[in-house]
Amino acid sequence: MHLRRNFALALFAGGLLAAAGTPAGAQARLFSPAARQKAEALLKQMTLDEKIGQLNQSAGIVMPGVSTTKPDDMIAKGGVGSILWQMNVKEINRLQHIAVEKSRLHIPILFGFDVIHGYRTIFPVPLAMASSWDPSVEEQAQRLAGQDARAAGIEWTFTPMVDIARDARWGRIVEGAGEDPFLGSAMAQAQVRGFQGAKLGPDSVMVCVKHFAGYGAADGGRDYDSSYVPEELMRNVYLRPFHAAEQAGAGSFMSAYMDLNDVPASGNHWLLTDVLRKDWGFQGLVLTDAFAVKSLQTHGFAKDPEDAAYKAISAGVNMDMASLTYSQNLAQLVKEGKVSEAYIDQMVLPILEAKYDLGLFEHPYVDESKVEAMLNRPEGLALERKLAGRSMVLLRNQNRALPLSKDLKKIAIIGPMADSTRDIEGGWTVEGLFGPGGKNHPVTVLAGIRNKLGPGAQITLVAGPQPSKIYPGLVDSITGVKPTPPPTPEETANWIAKAKAAAADADVVVAVMGETPNMSGEAASRATLDLPGIQEQMLEAAVATGKPVVLVLLNGRPLDMRWASEHVPAILDAWYPGTEGGNAVADVLFGDVNPGGKLPVSWPRVAGAEPLYYNHNLTHEPEDAPEFTSRYWDMNSKPLYPFGYGLSYTTFQFANLRLSKTRMTAADTSEVSVDVTNTGPVPGDAVAQIYIHQRYGSASRPVRQLEGFKRIALQPGETKTLTFPLGRNELQFWDPQTKRWLVEPSAFDVWAGGDSTASLHADLTVTQ
Ligand code: BGC
Repeated sequence: MHLRRNFALALFAGGLLAAAGTPAGAQARLFSPAARQKAEALLKQMTLDEKIGQLNQSAGIVMPGVSTTKPDDMIAKGGVGSILWQMNVKEINRLQHIAVEKSRLHIPILFGFDVIHGYRTIFPVPLAMASSWDPSVEEQAQRLAGQDARAAGIEWTFTPMVDIARDARWGRIVEGAGEDPFLGSAMAQAQVRGFQGAKLGPDSVMVCVKHFAGYGAADGGRDYDSSYVPEELMRNVYLRPFHAAEQAGAGSFMSAYMDLNDVPASGNHWLLTDVLRKDWGFQGLVLTDAFAVKSLQTHGFAKDPEDAAYKAISAGVNMDMASLTYSQNLAQLVKEGKVSEAYIDQMVLPILEAKYDLGLFEHPYVDESKVEAMLNRPEGLALERKLAGRSMVLLRNQNRALPLSKDLKKIAIIGPMADSTRDIEGGWTVEGLFGPGGKNHPVTVLAGIRNKLGPGAQITLVAGPQPSKIYPGLVDSITGVKPTPPPTPEETANWIAKAKAAAADADVVVAVMGETPNMSGEAASRATLDLPGIQEQMLEAAVATGKPVVLVLLNGRPLDMRWASEHVPAILDAWYPGTEGGNAVADVLFGDVNPGGKLPVSWPRVAGAEPLYYNHNLTHEPEDAPEFTSRYWDMNSKPLYPFGYGLSYTTFQFANLRLSKTRMTAADTSEVSVDVTNTGPVPGDAVAQIYIHQRYGSASRPVRQLEGFKRIALQPGETKTLTFPLGRNELQFWDPQTKRWLVEPSAFDVWAGGDSTASLHADLTVTQ
């Protein structure tokens, strides 16, 4: 019943598009008119079962607990619209041949996979790429990843993850762009452009923007836990990068696992229909996260599988990922009159349109002879090294400890990540998921330093024990690897003594430490942010020798750096820098690349300070009041390193902040200009950041919010003037009282500078 209403709404929304007051502009059609025509004609020939088949995404592999047989028979009957988790090119072609040759209507399968930060050449993890504060880093990386993936038969990627993450305990912080909606929106759009190009076509890979929505607000930072996010916070913060991706032409969205305000996201009509389709006018398709239709029952939301299918499809889910709940229940729902066939048609249409626009009907098969040459293009590795260098953040550099001299003769390298090919690329790699066999040759930090210094330098490695997730009985579900038990006290003492001896004998110590990739990512949340294992003890031992120590972090989240931030002279956060990561780290350590990355997150001192984010509201007591503040009494409540922060081997000055209009109406735009000068000795990149604050109005507004940024290269002594708009897009917010987007008459603070504590200030007045 309800579905007829939804169908009408969907059609209505298609005409309305950007609802009044939302930041949406006029929206072009997502799919081409030709694709629409062909899809409609094809739909007319399809039986109900064939239509339901298109709404099913099946696992392409036999996997315990997922599928006991290959999907061949189902494909031949037209029962599979898409396949995921299949990377073998020969198998992709074999399955496609069944679809195209044996199914009645010859509809090709759409192959999807998580191409998150590279296919064979692995780029820095998304949190690292966001640290570049250069959207073209994401765009270039995802373009190359998309070309590789497409050549290898993947036409759909479950990227970008645009979840706002305000809590480093949440493991999936590594997969996104951090805490800020403005930076996150820029990174989201860059990824859409990188994968899809200007429009979906035979060379593009369709994106799937995930996890819609509010997933990063998980209670306690525990993955999958409930999110409670009021509508104003959803609209003003969590939904912004999603909307930006939608406006950039994203072809699909993925509904999240968790419940949002008690309603599971994969059965959430408000999210999937009211916001996504009605307000934003989205014309593409929604896929659930894996098994999320089935798990509507686990949530205690659906009575049985039929009810789960009903709730998901009526909320607005087009395709069921892997749970087969649609395949097994939708026909019955149509028979019972609970779901109309017209509504099913509406859900199938964008899937067929995508297949037409992606060129699957013309070229359904992979040209196997071309795959290896494509994946091994040398420009991939060169690009990776360059982008990795742009993504690193220099957190500390006392007395110019960095860059290191290339004449160093004796280096001690300590730490379990230093020479581990498994750890340099981070999670979500094809090889990581499917075991060795890919042809990656990841460069470790040790190898990178060796490459840089040549055979003349004496390098001593003291790795120490590999830290592992210590959790009784825990076995990595994908690799089957059991955690190694922690070292005994004797082993610990032994490693520490070795680290100390190597450090004492060296000119410089490079400690490469952090977390193994499986410590962040999905289902990998933490209650503490400590350096796991005995790493900090080894670090302390090296520092105690008095030798200069440089800490290179490989990590998927901010870690507790309270001790290191006071005792280790230099800290370089390399995140997980990718296949060429070790060479890129060496480029930065030895000064061939001047670091210019900035933090996309506020770096907490301890886990107990989370969620910690710079764009919080003012409270009833000023932040610096002597007492009765809401801040902690047992620790500095400010981040260890603020959002937007990062050092360089040179210095910058921001000056001459001015507005083209200091007083204007709500319909107007003022241009903010600022001069940035390289005041130091070497060329380097600055990131100019613009923050605003609305002083009063219908709601409390964040103490600061980023509304403009630009990364620029400057020669020593050079000055550039940068200009940013401040108009409706930047000044408006979703008003919780009137439930609409507003630019209010008010006084605004404007700051410009190199991080979120910038002090260069100007005033803007907005009148009626
Ligand atoms: C993850 C998604 C991913 C999907 C398919 C899920 O477990 O939450 O991010 O895209 O698996 O691999």
